[in-house]
Amino acid sequence: MNQILQKIQNFTALLNRYAYEYYTLDAPSVPDAEYDRLFRELEALEREYPEHRQPDSPTQRVGGAALAGFETVRHEVPMLSLNNAFSPQDENGVFDHAEMYAFDERVRGGLGAETPEYVIEPKFDGLAVSLLYRDGILVRAATRGDGTSGEDVTQNVKTIANIPLRLHGNHLPELIEVRGEVLMLKADFAALNQRQLESRQKPFANPRNAAAGSLRQLDSKITAQRKLHFFAYGIAQQQGGLTAAEHIQELAYLDGLGFSLPKGHYACFSNIAAVLAFYEQMQAERPDLPYEIDGMVVKVNSLAQQETLGFVSRAPRWAIAHKFPAEEALTIVEAIDVQVGRTGAVTPVARLQPVFVGGVTVTNATLHNEGETQRKDVRVGDTVVVRRAGDVIPEVVRVVWERRPMKTIDTVPAATLSDGLQNDLFADAAMPSEPVQTAQVPLYPQYRLPDACPICGSSIEREEGEAVARCSGGMLCQAQRAQGLIHFASRKMMDIDGLGQKHIEQLVAQDLVRHFADLYRLDIPTLQKMKENADAMPSANEPDGTAGLSDSLKKTSDGTAKKQPTKWAENILAGLEASKQPDLARFLFALGIRHVGERTAKVLAQAFGSLENVRRAPEPVLACLPDIGTVVARSIAQFFAQNEQQAMIDELLAVGVRPKEQAVTLPLAQYLAPERWIARLPGFKTSENKAAALWDLAGKSIEGLICDKALPAEWQQWRDIETNTVLLHTMCRFLAGMPSENTGGGSDGLHAAAAGKTFVLTGTLPTLKRDEAQAMIEAAGGKVSGSVSKKTDFVVAGEAAGSKLEKANALGIAVLDEAALLDLLKP
Ligand code: IVH
Repeated sequence: MNQILQKIQNFTALLNRYAYEYYTLDAPSVPDAEYDRLFRELEALEREYPEHRQPDSPTQRVGGAALAGFETVRHEVPMLSLNNAFSPQDENGVFDHAEMYAFDERVRGGLGAETPEYVIEPKFDGLAVSLLYRDGILVRAATRGDGTSGEDVTQNVKTIANIPLRLHGNHLPELIEVRGEVLMLKADFAALNQRQLESRQKPFANPRNAAAGSLRQLDSKITAQRKLHFFAYGIAQQQGGLTAAEHIQELAYLDGLGFSLPKGHYACFSNIAAVLAFYEQMQAERPDLPYEIDGMVVKVNSLAQQETLGFVSRAPRWAIAHKFPAEEALTIVEAIDVQVGRTGAVTPVARLQPVFVGGVTVTNATLHNEGETQRKDVRVGDTVVVRRAGDVIPEVVRVVWERRPMKTIDTVPAATLSDGLQNDLFADAAMPSEPVQTAQVPLYPQYRLPDACPICGSSIEREEGEAVARCSGGMLCQAQRAQGLIHFASRKMMDIDGLGQKHIEQLVAQDLVRHFADLYRLDIPTLQKMKENADAMPSANEPDGTAGLSDSLKKTSDGTAKKQPTKWAENILAGLEASKQPDLARFLFALGIRHVGERTAKVLAQAFGSLENVRRAPEPVLACLPDIGTVVARSIAQFFAQNEQQAMIDELLAVGVRPKEQAVTLPLAQYLAPERWIARLPGFKTSENKAAALWDLAGKSIEGLICDKALPAEWQQWRDIETNTVLLHTMCRFLAGMPSENTGGGSDGLHAAAAGKTFVLTGTLPTLKRDEAQAMIEAAGGKVSGSVSKKTDFVVAGEAAGSKLEKANALGIAVLDEAALLDLLKP
């Protein structure tokens, strides 16, 4: 019998250790299956020998018999609340911490000669819980209730996996009451709501509600299925064990006893400025945390000082809840418009009654797409929850059904009411069991995207299986043109200084600019005309009635600006002029080719070196490049295959835009090995191995691929399609012209010794002028920089070389004279 008891005790301890490793340390030492096996074995033993069941048995974690109600628990140490402080931000995001400085002043005032240290920790957005342990065993768990008495939720709390049923460590107290917060991790909340929806049950509004609903279940088996989590933040009473003198020591003690703490997200500081810096950092990190927090709690670290400071009414003087701006708020949908993006993507946007949320005033929120809008069933007049977390675009989270505006209608057959009534609440109202005279239905209909683009009138179309609908107007659509131009001019693309979004919208609206090149034909009179027209027609979008122009334009009407009435326009022209020689990658990104972002544009620039080569690159060549798949390759090839796009580029060149040429720094010969491009020919499905064999059969020449009559049938069939033969000829021409030895190319290939290297020129060279030397280096794929650093590969030194040469010597960088440079640059 003793052996059985021993076994039960061992299994209990082992399972509790595994659970701690898994849930608290996030470092499991055995596979889940091993835990499950032991667990089942323990269950069986307990069933047979219930008298040996341990008080910390993990089998309690699955929940027990349902209760009729919760017992009331009186808190020996009341569970108090905290006073709040806020730090509003200005439009630049700068915090005003006056309330926190006032808190610091009060604390210092209360402490006299002593100076405080502060602990700052998350303010968890869950439910406060008190856990009582006697002789290391969890004996009672209670909710906060009204602070004086709460409910006994012991059975439920025992199902929370990261709460120790028996305390760990060597310094066990005889009694300890731990305070902390029960919450649901964001990921577990999302999964729970998914399950709720799948089983046609109402989803929870937020993780806090889900945690509260789960903890207050009379049937603890339900609680056990909801993954809850506990963080400890304090000790209310203790007998025996380690005695702490500081709050931070208490936290360390709790950690040692086996509780979860918010690792990395709490800290102790000796001054309020450091506390505030930590707060700002946490506010930025807030959207990425695995759990919801609504601020930080700042506590005086010394427990003796806490005692000195004491309490006012029901809140401590030694702590404060330093709240974050709410991420969610309620407001009313005034209208649902659509926005047309650069690629024609049509997005429904809710126009809202202005509401302060996430630190800013929000007037618009995205509804993502038609499907999403219908799923959430957002309608005009609805009260909605708007969310803005961090820097993300504000979105409508859900409708507050109870506040939906309704109308009473005469009874009609249920069938005609089915429109938009998938919400059960109203379906009930519309389909009464007894015949009635009237029914309540929503005042506004369910949302549908318009059939035609509200900007250009072209049809709105949605491809099979795509969530996004698009305006089919292309460049005919003013909205797409404006967005395309805004993209073109923005910082990471052409970086046109002075030309703001609002300017572009006006230029397009007034048809003064249709395409990229038109920007470079702007002059002062045209810009002035744009402004005059804009001033004359206040934009409907701007609630304040201003013309919707940027600040730089509005300022032209004030006194100072009048002295130079065209300064703003001159700035735009200067910005345009300065943008005329962009890096090739930026230029390619600016063109707005579908699927070509910053990274793909860089690959294209590195692979081809010049706009001329990029614009003639055939699809199989593009598909050979790193990170470019068939979809992207096709999109690029299709873009350049359009006459209008080629004309648009020619026009840009004609107005003086010259993307810089650059050295080819990708090993193109490798990427363009024949078996690679053959395997990527559109419509010819083959492996690289088979493609290599075909290339051999064709006598290793494209001419062979085109003419040879003794090649496999599937190749001949593919080749018989005229466009495919044309493509092979194009490949032949393209590869012949490529700057790479393997593809039979031109003379501007790479010089291995100089390619990718950084040079610094200093002093006077005997024959070469500085810009000549620079041009030669750049033509060979090198870069010329103005100053010497660890990153410099060569310093080219001429007569009277000064400090740069000294620095090169000090850093051990290779120094070349002109002859050595010319040698290095030899092809
Ligand atoms: S300490 C006497 N620390 O905030 C001070 N409370 O307004 C007792 N809360 O209901 C509270 N995170 O549930 C403390 N790190 C934290 C907290 C925290 C969240 C909640 C707690 C309480 C409320 C007080």
